[in-house]
Amino acid sequence: MVSRTALLYLSRHHSLKDFFAKFPGFKQVTHRFIAGENIDDAIKAILELNKLGVTATFDHLGESTTSKAEAEADVREYLRVLDRIDATGVNSNVSVKLTQLGLDIDEQFCLQNTRRIIESAKLHHNFVRIDMEDSSKTDATLRIFKQLYRELGNVGIVLQAYLYRTEKDLDDVLSLGARVRLCKGAYQEPETVAFPDKKDVDANYLKLMRKLLKSGIYHGIATHDLRMIRGTKEFAESEGIDKDQFEFQMLYGVRRDLMLGLAREGYRMRTYVPYGEFWYPYFMRRLAERPANLWFVLKNLFKD
Ligand code: FDA
Repeated sequence: MVSRTALLYLSRHHSLKDFFAKFPGFKQVTHRFIAGENIDDAIKAILELNKLGVTATFDHLGESTTSKAEAEADVREYLRVLDRIDATGVNSNVSVKLTQLGLDIDEQFCLQNTRRIIESAKLHHNFVRIDMEDSSKTDATLRIFKQLYRELGNVGIVLQAYLYRTEKDLDDVLSLGARVRLCKGAYQEPETVAFPDKKDVDANYLKLMRKLLKSGIYHGIATHDLRMIRGTKEFAESEGIDKDQFEFQMLYGVRRDLMLGLAREGYRMRTYVPYGEFWYPYFMRRLAERPANLWFVLKNLFKD
């Protein structure tokens, strides 16, 4: 049985992308989790979601950028996305990864790039969510987030329930009044920084969810786990927190049944819609979350 650890290991070896891309059916397989290669593909997917009562967040796939020119190209792509959201009227905000915007090159350079996107979003009355990457990036990501939150306001952060440090980070972010997307965490982390057992991650998720919902700030509860979703619904009901005071969030292509069910029940629902050519690490993390997805990949690999 291929493990989560093995798939996360492979996700960091980008050269394997070319190997997988040689299979005739591979592109089709990636389309289960990725809306397409360009902004228009993502807009099409988002329009369909909007019709079903689901909002979205654009994710232009990219991470671990090592050249300033690539980071600049990503900034421009996000500026275009914000223009296109306005022009087409789709209901969506944007999500960015700081290593895509140059965090591994220079923190100040990354700060300036991220600021340009958030400033543009502000002019468009829109919102930017900063994704959280592996734990070697947490401190710098939070530094940049806090500075830009104080300067501009229309930015939120992602926190990961698998990290021991997250409860403290969450208190800190809540004291600023900022919006959080709570997720379990998608990267391979050592036991020194993250709970190794799923049951501890889940217990922490529920604990942090309760803090978020009680804060009175509008947060995103990002999960496909029925137990986390039930726990959130029950807690909100018991505390008299209305359905429009928070939102559930899910990833494109994952548990669409649950997503539509929640939207029909009147919960706010947002889908994370990735698009672009740099799909490999994102795609491998999705396989790692559910190694059974590998069967889906293998079945389709040789189809034309
Ligand atoms: P869990 O992994 O326990 O899965 C629960 C159930 O959901 C599974 O049994 C299965 O039914 C279904 N499921 C989950 N993943 C699936 C998949 N890939 N394919 C098919 N079924 C699947 N992480 C991070 O580190 N930084 C970030 O910024 C973000 N951002 C983010 C945004 C949004 C909107 C979401 C929903 C998630 C993220 N994540 C993330 C990913 C997150 O950390 C986590 O890895 C996944 O959401 C999977 O965790 P679940 O909470 O779904 O539970």
